[in-house]
Amino acid sequence: MTEPTLYPVPGPYAGKTLLDEQGYLEMYRRSLEDSEGFWREQAQRLDWIRPFTQVKDVSFARDDLHIRWFADGTLNVAANCLDRHLAEHGDDTAILWVGDEPGTSREISYRELHSEVCRFANGLKSLGVQRGDVVTIYMPMIPQAAVAMLACARIGAVHSVVFAGFSPEALAGRMDDGQSRVVITANAGRRGGRSVVLKENVDRAIALCKETTVETAVVVNYTDDAVNMQPGRDVDYGELLAAQDEDCPPEEMGAEDPLFILYTSGSTGKPKGVLHSGGGYLTYTSLTHEYVFDYRRGERFWCAADIGWITGHSYIIYGPLANGATTVMYEGVPNYPDVTRVARIVDEHQIDVLYIAPTAIRALMAEGDRPTEGADLSSLRLLGTVGEPINPEAWRWYHRNFGRGQCPIVDTWWQTETGGALLTPLPGATALKPGSATRPFFGIRPALVDNDGNILEGAAEGNLVLLDSWPGQMRTVFGDHQRFADTYFSTFRDMYFTGDGARRDADGYYWITGRVDDVLNVSGHRMGTAELESALVAHPAVAEAAVVGFPHDIKGQGIYVYVTLNSGVEPSEEMHRTLRDWLRSEIGPIATPDVIQWAPGLPKTRSGKIMRRILRKIAADEYDQLGDISTLADPSVVEQLIDNHTRLA
Ligand code: WTA
Repeated sequence: MTEPTLYPVPGPYAGKTLLDEQGYLEMYRRSLEDSEGFWREQAQRLDWIRPFTQVKDVSFARDDLHIRWFADGTLNVAANCLDRHLAEHGDDTAILWVGDEPGTSREISYRELHSEVCRFANGLKSLGVQRGDVVTIYMPMIPQAAVAMLACARIGAVHSVVFAGFSPEALAGRMDDGQSRVVITANAGRRGGRSVVLKENVDRAIALCKETTVETAVVVNYTDDAVNMQPGRDVDYGELLAAQDEDCPPEEMGAEDPLFILYTSGSTGKPKGVLHSGGGYLTYTSLTHEYVFDYRRGERFWCAADIGWITGHSYIIYGPLANGATTVMYEGVPNYPDVTRVARIVDEHQIDVLYIAPTAIRALMAEGDRPTEGADLSSLRLLGTVGEPINPEAWRWYHRNFGRGQCPIVDTWWQTETGGALLTPLPGATALKPGSATRPFFGIRPALVDNDGNILEGAAEGNLVLLDSWPGQMRTVFGDHQRFADTYFSTFRDMYFTGDGARRDADGYYWITGRVDDVLNVSGHRMGTAELESALVAHPAVAEAAVVGFPHDIKGQGIYVYVTLNSGVEPSEEMHRTLRDWLRSEIGPIATPDVIQWAPGLPKTRSGKIMRRILRKIAADEYDQLGDISTLADPSVVEQLIDNHTRLA
C-alpha cells in the first residue's frame, strides 16, 4: 500500500481551531496588503508602557541596513511574561519542570515565578548589573535558568545564554565577544543519569578570557557535587536570593533595546552574536506560539529543546510565557532511562502539544514501536518539529506512533536569526505533506531566487530569501553591524538571504532542501565548517583540515573531517583519538567528528581554494558525480582520497 502524500485537516479539528484554511488565507493576504496595520494590531497583544506610534522602519539595503519595529514604544518583556498574568492567572502553572530522573517534577505557578524573578533581579542589581550589561547564562535545564533570563529582562540587562554542552574555550569566546562581566551557572547539571560539571568549565573559561574580566559568577548549587567557590567572585544563588526584597519594578525599556544575544554559526569566521530586541521579538514569538500551535490557556505545551538554542528561547520561555501558557521544561534526554521516556512524560503530565527535533524522532524510530508501546498518548492534540528537514518516513512514524494517526504535525522552518517560525502549517488550516514546512506565516514574504538573484515564479527550486521584514527578525550582529550586512544582505540585493535552499511545488508549498552554504546541521545543531577547521589547524600535529557534512541516518548530517598531518607526524589510532578529543574540548561534544580521514593532500584550485564540493561527494560515496576536476592544481589527489575513503568503510 502506498502512503498518502497529502494529509487533510483532521475532522475533529474542523471549526475548532483559531483559523480554518479560508481564515488563514484572508489573514495572510491582509498581513501583506496592509503590513503596518496588521502589525500595529498584533502588537496590541503586549502590554506597552508607552504606546508606539511608529510601526515599522526598515531598509534591507546593504549600505543603509536598519530594522526597527514599534521603535518609539516602551515595555518590559518580563512584565509581559509574568506580571500581567498575576491578577487572573497567578495560580496557573507557568513552568512544569520534569527532571532527568523519572518521577521528579515540579510545578511553578506564575506567582512563584514572578516572585523569584523579582528577587533574583534585585540580586543582580545588588551585584552591580545595570541596564545594557551583558550577562552570560551557562545553565542546565532547571527553572533557575528561566529565572535568570527573565531577571535580566526585568532590569534591562542583555542575556547571552551559552549552551551548557559547549566547552570552556567556546564559553570564553562568547564571554569575550559580549564583554560579559557576570556569569550565571550551576555547580552541575543532570543528563541521562549523569552529572555534567558546569562550574569547573566556568572557572576554566574565566581564566581563558582575554577581552573581559569576569567579576562575578552566580552559582546554583543544584546537585551534590562539590564545588570550589572563589571568595570575592563566586556567589551562591540561594544566599543571594534569600537576601533580596520581592519588590522590583520592571525597567521601562525601548522596544528596540536589546533583549538578548545568542551565538550561532555561519559559513565563515567565529560564531556571531545574533541580537534580538524586546518589542518585536515578543510580539512575534507570542503570536506564532498562539497560532502555530493553536494554543489555548490551560494546555500543557512541551517544546523539548534546550534553552541554549533559539528554540528554547522562543518556545520554552518567551512565546509561551507571554501567552500565560504552561510550558514544560525537561531536564533530560529522550532515551533515558529508556526509549519510552518521552511517551511516559506525555502520559504522566497529560501533555497537549509536543514539539521536538527530527533527530530525536529518528533516534526513537530506530527502536521500532518500542518508544510508544503501552502508552496512551490520548492527551496529545498536536505535534511539531523544528531544526532540520524531516524525512517523510520519520514524519509518518511520528504521526502514527505519537499522533495515533490523528494529530497534525506542524513542521516549522525558521532560524536563530528569524526569532520565530516563518514557514509553517497552521493546525486547522493547512493540509499537510510529509517533509514540507508548507506555507508562510502572517507577514512573511518568502521567495526563491537563482544564483543571480532573479526571483523564480511558480513551482521552482532555488535559494530561499525573504523580501520583507517581520518583527521577530534579528537586528544586528552584536558589535559588528557590517558583518550583519555582509552575511545576510550582500548575496542578493535588498533581500535577506537565509543560507537555505528550497523547492516550491505547484500548490505553493515550500520544501527546505538544506543549507547551501558551509554550515552543517548535525542533530539540529548548527556548526560552521570554518569553525571546526580553525580548531583543527590550531592543533600542532595538523597542517591542513577540511570539514564537510555527509548524510547520516539519525543525525541528519554527520561530521566528516579530512586532515593533512604535518610532516614527521604519522597517522595512527592514537592521533585519531587525539584529534577527536581535541575538537570536543575546543568546541564541545556536539562537535565530535563521525569520520576522520587522513589526506595526504586536499583538492585545491590553482589559486589554492579547497574544492569542498569534491570532498562532499567523496564523503557521501558519490564518486561518479565529482564533476569537473580538471581545474584542480593536482587532480591526482582525488584518486588518493577516494582510495583512502573506501578503505575506511
Ligand atoms: C534548518 C533552529 C528544514 C535550516 C530554529 C535553518 C530546518 C537552520 C527547519 C537554522 C525545518 C530549521 N525544516 N530545515 N523545519 N528548521 N531548519 O539557527 O537549515 O539552529 O537554516 O534555528 O536549521 O538553525 P537554527
